[in-house]
Amino acid sequence: MNALLDRRIEPEPFIAGWRIARLDRVGSTNDEARTLGIAGDPGRLWVVAKEQTRGRGRKGRFWSSPPGNLYASALIVDPGPPALAPQLGFVAGVALAQAVEDLGGREFALKWPNDLLWRGAKVAGLLAESVTTKDRRLACVIGVGVNCRSAPDGVAYPVAALGQALERDVGPEALLLRLARRFHEALGLWARGAGFAEIRALWLAVAAGVGEPIRVSDPRGARKGLFEGLDASGRLLLRTPLGVEAIEAADLHLLSPAGPDAPAGDERT
Ligand code: BTN
Repeated sequence: MNALLDRRIEPEPFIAGWRIARLDRVGSTNDEARTLGIAGDPGRLWVVAKEQTRGRGRKGRFWSSPPGNLYASALIVDPGPPALAPQLGFVAGVALAQAVEDLGGREFALKWPNDLLWRGAKVAGLLAESVTTKDRRLACVIGVGVNCRSAPDGVAYPVAALGQALERDVGPEALLLRLARRFHEALGLWARGAGFAEIRALWLAVAAGVGEPIRVSDPRGARKGLFEGLDASGRLLLRTPLGVEAIEAADLHLLSPAGPDAPAGDERT
């Protein structure tokens, strides 16, 4: 266990059973949370940093992490059956969308699998990872990166900051407060996977592009079709002339006029 980090863990003041570690500058909050999980931390812990030097996005992409934005990772040990752990991304997505709505956010949408959009521009991303603890339990880390005060330049897709969408300044602490509460509630609803149908319904109610044309790209190639919804385990359902395909992991491009198409990939610089 990292002794410095260990000393910085304190009870989360508003949510019973949760703790929080507030850090200034780290490589990646996901990496800090993973390390704690492997070392035997019991979980229900938020690791939050003011900035990251090696912030990570999906597929190993770099996540630009200057001060002013939210970089937070929730560590949950033994959240439920390991096969259902990928559903935690949807749990966190629902919580994030609700947190932003609590702050007055309108016109936000979730983009499969794990982005939050405002008017089609990316405001936040989630990175869900799993590790095995030293006593062989499953530890899940859900990393949340939100552009509160700034959005990165030079990315190949539209981006926006929360402050722009809300027309007022919302700092990372104010957002974290709502997010931590909403995540706690959503985890309760998920109920170790027994409540995934409810989470899926909440997710779909604010999802971008459902019923509309999309393109998915994965190692099998790119194909177009209609975004039919999510199956019982959270896989994207793509309707093509050949039938309905369930897709576990891919990049999704929304092709409807209102949605952002990102032909160069979902990549941050
Ligand atoms: C994505 O959209 O590609 C996911 C981005 C996730 C970024 C967050 S910031 C906090 C946590 N720590 C990281 O290194 N990544 C996640």
